[in-house]
Amino acid sequence: MAQKIILDCDPGHDDALALLLAHAHPAVELLAVTTVAGNQTLDKTTLNARRVMSVAGIKEVPVAAGAARPLMRDQLTAPEVHGQSGLEGWPFDEPEVGLDPRHAVDLIAETVAACDEVTLVPVGPLTNIALALHRHPGVMAKVKDIVLMGGSSGLGNTTPAAEFNIHADPEAAHIVFSSGLPVTMVPLDLTHQAMVTPQILEQVRAVGNRVADMAAALLGFYSQAIDDADGLSGAALHDPCAVARVIHPEIVECKRVNVVVETARSWSYGATVCDLQGISGREPNALIAQDLDAGAFWDLMLDALTAYS
Ligand code: BDR
Ligand code: CA
Repeated sequence: MAQKIILDCDPGHDDALALLLAHAHPAVELLAVTTVAGNQTLDKTTLNARRVMSVAGIKEVPVAAGAARPLMRDQLTAPEVHGQSGLEGWPFDEPEVGLDPRHAVDLIAETVAACDEVTLVPVGPLTNIALALHRHPGVMAKVKDIVLMGGSSGLGNTTPAAEFNIHADPEAAHIVFSSGLPVTMVPLDLTHQAMVTPQILEQVRAVGNRVADMAAALLGFYSQAIDDADGLSGAALHDPCAVARVIHPEIVECKRVNVVVETARSWSYGATVCDLQGISGREPNALIAQDLDAGAFWDLMLDALTAYS
């Protein structure tokens, strides 16, 4: 049976690819797309979700806008990676896909209430999920799993210690990790095994349908922007790794550990402290993804793009 998911995202290039993967693969049923401010402001991430869905012909899935700001900190965006629009690289037309009038937090809660076994897949800052937990605690207790892209057990990509999605709203991340719900964290340690190499770009270009052409153009912009920004880390395709974990859990190996989020305004604000050695004595509260079968991941991504006509 297909896994029912809600994708909460801030498109964003890798978010766009996560959306395309989630819609195309028969092992998941994409119930809703919700947007949050992150890679760009909320108006831009929401427009981008609708743009990608329009090109891909995803018309039956509701898309709703959520939080425009983090819970407590000042807003952080990433134009150096995703450009001024948040999704540079493809000449999008006006989107045909409209906006659901509900707030994302209400769409999430109504969807979880109406269906059994819903997995949330947040691939942006965790603001919407934290607000949903606060506003609809009874309904949210039904969530099957929260498979999120974010955090790191080692180096950060936004500060030396913190990853973007968690650093952009550490207080929200703290609420999610301490919620008692099942959490699977797909951190940088894992996503840096999903690199957009020139060979991968060629393979995406060779798929040859319109959606894959858009994906190739977006990936081209994304890898160039990351190269220009640091020239060191290379372009990792973060967000689709979380979707891949839902589709084929066996290609994303996880370990059960305790994770806490640094919320003090310190040098490590927004860091995820992952007790991989079990030395804290704190109860494990999350599965943390560690090893990716990169070949299987890219096969999955390429098959998904090929499925669009
Ligand atoms: C995360 O930050 C964003 O820029 C990406 O979309 C991804 O979700 C990686 O740190
Ligand atoms: Ca993202």
